[in-house]
Amino acid sequence: MIVYFSATGNSKYAAERIAAALGDRAVSIEEKCYDITLKEDECFGIVTPTHWWALPIPVRAFLRNLRLHRRGSHYVFVASTYGTTPGCSAEETRHLLRERGIRLSAAYNIKMPDNWTVTFDLTDPVKVARQNEKAEINIDRTIAMILHKKKGNFTKLRTPYAIYPFTDRVFAKVRSTKNLTVDDNCNGCGLCAKKCPVNAIEMRDGKPVWVRDRCALCFRCLHHCPQFAIQFWKGATRKHGQYTNPNVKV
Ligand SMILES: Cc1cc2nc3c(=O)[nH]c(=O)nc-3n(C[C@H](O)[C@H](O)[C@H](O)COP(=O)(O)O)c2cc1C
Ligand code: SF4
Ligand code: SF4
Repeated sequence: MIVYFSATGNSKYAAERIAAALGDRAVSIEEKCYDITLKEDECFGIVTPTHWWALPIPVRAFLRNLRLHRRGSHYVFVASTYGTTPGCSAEETRHLLRERGIRLSAAYNIKMPDNWTVTFDLTDPVKVARQNEKAEINIDRTIAMILHKKKGNFTKLRTPYAIYPFTDRVFAKVRSTKNLTVDDNCNGCGLCAKKCPVNAIEMRDGKPVWVRDRCALCFRCLHHCPQFAIQFWKGATRKHGQYTNPNVKV
């Protein structure tokens, strides 16, 4: 079984490709499938974006609740999609799984367009298409290794796990919902509130209101808004455009 979290479709697409190659299914962690019983010889894979050199908040919550019922030994892997620096997401997965009595067999990375549009410009469709073409090669390579049940940490550009408490403190500050704003282009459709994975948005008087101090900062609302009315640090994201993976249904 392959489980995934995905804000803008990259990880969903990678999860579906991997699941198809394994003759398996890809299930979103937002379905809250915490109790998982594996068949004999079935693989268990987690496909996730990298957030702030680590795991997204919803993935951490999922792994802390996971109950994996096994028959014998199973191949367990994590594949994190990333834009520039995967950091310690593999190591964090290993730690969280170990707390649940599960041993991680392998960790992979798949480079894809970087949806952290505070920094990265995704306005050029040709450049983005080229990045997605390169990602296909990366996905194929990852699939080949998974099919061979390779063991080890195959991630690149790792950051030491020792700096995780520091980087996570910074991430917690950045995740303040005060940094997310909505402008006059909002048409009140409510999609952002409906799609937020941590229910941080409520519609009030036809406008989104962030009702939590902090959110997961996945950028799903920002990239899916039909009016591009949601920004982070205002101008920083406006000039870098919106992104959703072209291969998955939004
Ligand atoms: C808040 C945030 C933080 C991110 N941090 C990193 C990072 O530390 N390293 C990196 O390479 N990519 C980072 N990214 C980029 C995503 O990991 C990458 O675009 C991923 O493929 C998105 O997957 P999705 O489309 O399944 O959501 C970040 C994206 C967001 C929104
Ligand atoms: S998705 Fe965009 S347009 Fe729709 S309610 Fe949210 S901010 Fe407004
Ligand atoms: S408010 Fe937006 S960025 Fe924050 S968790 Fe919800 S969808 Fe993601």
